[in-house]
Amino acid sequence: MIRIAILGFGTVGRGVAEVLSMKRDMIERKIGKYGVVAIADSRSSISGEFSLLEAIAYKEERGRLPYDKTPRELLDEIDFDVLIETTPTDVKTGEPGLSYIKEAIRRDADVITSNKGPLVVAFSEIMEMAERHGVRIGYEATVGGAMPVIKLVSRELAGNRIFRIRGILNGTTNYILSRMEKEGMPYSQILSEAKEMGIAEADPSYDVDGIDAGAKLVIIANTIFNISASLNDVKIKGISGITPEAFRVAGEKGYTIRLIAEADENGRLDVSPRLVKLTNPLAIYGTMNALLVETDLAGEIFVIGKGAGKKETASAIISDLVDMYGRNNRSG
Ligand SMILES: NC(=O)c1ccc[n+]([C@@H]2O[C@H](COP(=O)([O-])OP(=O)(O)OC[C@H]3O[C@@H](n4cnc5c(N)ncnc54)[C@H](OP(=O)(O)O)[C@@H]3O)[C@@H](O)[C@H]2O)c1
Repeated sequence: MIRIAILGFGTVGRGVAEVLSMKRDMIERKIGKYGVVAIADSRSSISGEFSLLEAIAYKEERGRLPYDKTPRELLDEIDFDVLIETTPTDVKTGEPGLSYIKEAIRRDADVITSNKGPLVVAFSEIMEMAERHGVRIGYEATVGGAMPVIKLVSRELAGNRIFRIRGILNGTTNYILSRMEKEGMPYSQILSEAKEMGIAEADPSYDVDGIDAGAKLVIIANTIFNISASLNDVKIKGISGITPEAFRVAGEKGYTIRLIAEADENGRLDVSPRLVKLTNPLAIYGTMNALLVETDLAGEIFVIGKGAGKKETASAIISDLVDMYGRNNRSG
């Protein structure tokens, strides 16, 4: 039986637990029997034999799990094969996820994470450590939500030289820019509406200043180009200075404006608002994410999909799980 531990039991952690419970038959046909042996949030936990749906209901009713053991204590005591790490992102320190991921690797467990922080801060260190311990790191969920990016560039396009990628990697900024384009309203007005609708955070700076897109770009670029870039290597400019007038002028010439994250094989990493032809596939609308990959053999490959959300992110995490333990591709 594959023993799964889940650290972080918020939107994504609970979404994964729900899918592991609801789609058990389908997933077990692919990977064999599994059980979630431990779950922890920031201050409480559950371990041993328990029902996943009851654990979700308990957390949703009381805001915590039944026992006081901390995530750290749980990691030390429980035997598990794979850690699903879904704690909050901190792109400066990578914590708390970075310590949890390292501890799991030390204990020779595979890791699946949706948390950008650890990979932005310590991508090479994590990958080298995983290699030494013969374990796998799945991080499809860190970039583009449900949209397949990491496996696309590292597996499906294996054999290609990838020259450049360009993408829309942040749904909040794309939503704001799409509405500015369509409605000609100022940035500040649309931002405050987006906050009311829950599309933008109360403190939106992480999104609108381009940091979230930059973090995702670092992870994709490190994966493709085998570099050890960090957030400091990305030239970042956000969208707060864009005016309705800029959209009007762009529109007259057949262009729109989007926050484009771009990386190329020379190590250039850039996130900034760019003119995009209205006929370009990257001129997408709403909260969608998209990525255009330029290769030598396959030409241009374009993917588009939902960049966030409970079940969308769970989709990426389950895809990593099946990828690691699938009966046809099991290596561990
Ligand atoms: N939501 C999305 O659509 C989405 C999409 C892609 C990637 N992500 C990433 O996935 C991760 C989780 O996102 P989310 O939306 O699920 O966040 P969330 O709803 O805020 O949940 C975070 C969970 O982590 C727990 N936590 C906080 N500090 C912890 C600690 N020191 N040790 C153990 N657990 C701790 C929280 O505990 P409490 O419940 O006790 O507060 C909570 O259960 C983030 O890194 C996020 O950037 C999210």
